[in-house]
Amino acid sequence: MFPDLTRDDVFRLETRRLWLRWTRLADAQAIVRLAGEKSVADMTAHIPHPYTPQDAERFIFAARQSNADGQGLQLAITPKGRPNALIGMVGITPGSEKGQPTLGYWLGTPSWGQGYATEAVRALIDAFFAYGDEMELRASTRVINPTSRRVLEKCGFAYQGTGLVEFPARGGFYPADEFRLDRRAWESLKSWGHTGLVREPAYEAEPVLELAS
Ligand SMILES: CC(C)(COP(=O)(O)OP(=O)(O)OC[C@H]1O[C@@H](n2cnc3c(N)ncnc32)[C@H](O)[C@@H]1OP(=O)(O)O)[C@@H](O)C(=O)NCCC(=O)NCCS
Repeated sequence: MFPDLTRDDVFRLETRRLWLRWTRLADAQAIVRLAGEKSVADMTAHIPHPYTPQDAERFIFAARQSNADGQGLQLAITPKGRPNALIGMVGITPGSEKGQPTLGYWLGTPSWGQGYATEAVRALIDAFFAYGDEMELRASTRVINPTSRRVLEKCGFAYQGTGLVEFPARGGFYPADEFRLDRRAWESLKSWGHTGLVREPAYEAEPVLELAS
């Protein structure tokens, strides 16, 4: 799914406020503390609750393995200039259903409400379409998660419908809204700023010549 470029653990994405980098064993403590909060885990398909250090280590090894073989790209979200301070994760993995590339993300509660998830997701979407040749990306959110739904909408995802989606760490199937972003829609969004409305300079009336009487 991902090319050689992203398969090396020095790979990093930079945004205005963030660095997204491969996760590493030293992140385990932060992941346990942040992903271990029930309000975070409950909205996700794969984060168990309670969350143990062994769970975090297993996750980190699996994420690094899938990054290395190009089957996915899971990146730690860190503030720019402070790469050791993990605040969340964002990733694309082959979905359980037909292996379709699927987006997932979470942020620790201290970082909510500042636009970080949108910023991180946009960067990963750009990398996904710019570096790979897949045609579409999927995502789903529990119907009780309007914040996540809003993140997807701001990133250009289109709502596909509501159905029962498996959340293995929650122990079953839950009603979830399903979304999709295809390559053409992403290309269109990326070029919108260059091809859109041209703002004419404000019309300035010709000065009226005052005729001497
Ligand atoms: C979902 C999550 C990643 C969002 O992170 P975040 O950095 O706070 O998100 P952002 O600030 O980029 O965007 C949130 C948007 O949701 C909006 N929002 C917040 N609460 C909302 C609510 N109750 N209803 C509707 N919109 C809401 C915000 O206003 C913002 O939209 P805006 O920029 O148009 O105002 C974070 O809440 C989280 O980790 N939740 C738990 C795990 C999770 O849900 N993961 C996703 C699984 S699909």
